[in-house]
Amino acid sequence: EDEKDMVSRPPVVCVMGHVDHGKTSLLDAIRQTKVTSGEAGGITQAIGASVVDVNGQTITFLDTPGHEAFTAMRMRGAQSTDIAILVVAADDGVMPQTIEAINHAKAAGIEIIVAINKIDKESANIERVKQELTEYELIPEDWGGSTIFCPVSAHTKEGIDNLLEMILLTADVLELKANPNRKARGIVIEAELDKGRGPVATMLVQKGTLHVGDYIAVGASHGKVRAMTNSRGERVTEALPSTPVQIQGLNTVPDAGEIFMAVDNEKEARTISETYISQGKEKLLADTKQRMSLDDLY
Ligand code: GTP
Ligand code: NA
Ligand code: MG
Repeated sequence: EDEKDMVSRPPVVCVMGHVDHGKTSLLDAIRQTKVTSGEAGGITQAIGASVVDVNGQTITFLDTPGHEAFTAMRMRGAQSTDIAILVVAADDGVMPQTIEAINHAKAAGIEIIVAINKIDKESANIERVKQELTEYELIPEDWGGSTIFCPVSAHTKEGIDNLLEMILLTADVLELKANPNRKARGIVIEAELDKGRGPVATMLVQKGTLHVGDYIAVGASHGKVRAMTNSRGERVTEALPSTPVQIQGLNTVPDAGEIFMAVDNEKEARTISETYISQGKEKLLADTKQRMSLDDLY
């Protein structure tokens, strides 16, 4: 890819941590929404994508579930993002899925920013959380380490502006870039069969620009993008790198975590998905290697 085609793109940030440590509440505080109150049993069960504007700069957030049953989603979250916000409740401290989230983030090679949440609580103990995390090589700057720790409260909103500032600062250092002038490529965050609309998929565009009318192949599915909505549910006609969009027009429901790519025409989209179905991902990779670089594909 030509360096000259690369332009800055917003950071994609994954919010991770143990169940009920306040990931969704933190995002609610940032977005000024009330997603938590609509969740069954107060448990997040899917990855939710949202886009936030902070003084003219954009951040894309992926909220992940903390419940132990959702390991695959946490892994997927870490793999498709640039920065992990590790949420640790100040009263509860490091718990099993905190450690799991650290491992996913480290395996994915992404930056970790620690958000110590619920500091409004009487039983909050910030120093203890810092101490516990040193065991996982997350050492605060004031203790001689290099990890950013942000004490916050999703309830009082204390520390939220600082957290957002630290995310933007970290993103600046990463110099995140993508080429918007190529066919789109990205990852499926969630997908389901909607009674009225058929298969719908929330996809994160990672490279290129996705347009309504584009032909796409995604795992065993393919189709033409018939309609797209952004994270606020508004109709859009195109999606740039780092943008999550929900699309309609696939023939079947793709698996979450699957890679999607825009291709030239319907025949190519169908051929790719058929190869995937009949011969698997490995064969597909081998076949298409001659035509596209591996980076284009996966
Ligand atoms: P899962 O997605 O199910 O893993 O949970 P979560 O991490 O998204 O936590 P959630 O936002 O659902 O919050 C769990 C509980 O903690 C709720 O009762 C929140 O009201 C409470 N909570 C979240 N943030 C704060 C905070 O800053 N202070 C206090 N006191 N309570 C909080
Ligand atoms: Na919860
Ligand atoms: Mg949640």
